[in-house]
Amino acid sequence: MSSPQSVATQQEAHGNPGPGKMPATQGGSDGRPSTSPEAPPIDWQRLDRILEEFKGQHGAVIPILQRVQDACGYLPREVLAYISKKTLIPLTQLYGVATFYAQFHLTRRGRHLLRLCDGTACHVRGSAKAIEAIARDLGVQPGQTSPDYKLTFEIVYCLGSCGLAPVAVVDGKVYGNLSPDAMVKRLEGLE
Ligand code: FES
Repeated sequence: MSSPQSVATQQEAHGNPGPGKMPATQGGSDGRPSTSPEAPPIDWQRLDRILEEFKGQHGAVIPILQRVQDACGYLPREVLAYISKKTLIPLTQLYGVATFYAQFHLTRRGRHLLRLCDGTACHVRGSAKAIEAIARDLGVQPGQTSPDYKLTFEIVYCLGSCGLAPVAVVDGKVYGNLSPDAMVKRLEGLE
């Protein structure tokens, strides 16, 4: 006989939050969960196509999550529940993988990604001042996303371009030798 805990785990594994737990979103008329108003719309048909590609493949959790994250920008809770329901992969397993690997994100990300280096060479050349300026002028702290979801700000430790210190990468483009003010101006210019 199943214990209450194992029943809850099984229910969660199939997208049911279980007794006493309210879902974050309500179900839509087509049976798919709807998204919160402020979140960008989820392309459920695209998700279906991704899941269809991996149908019957065992051990495909990581590539499924990678593809889904590419499609959504992150791994929303309702999407993980949907994947679990469609693939019968336990939700606990999906969360286990998504939380183990740094490449996966469970919270919504900004439209732009700033990775600022605070490794030794960059620190010596003033990266701490850039971190301060970005937090002060743009209102986003390291490790966080701005409230308008324009920017996600990450600190890294050596980007392998120490000769350009201090170094930052914005949306994959490398910027070196930037003063804090110049960095803030560049970031302010992003759409
Ligand atoms: S320490 Fe910043 S790029 Fe190496």
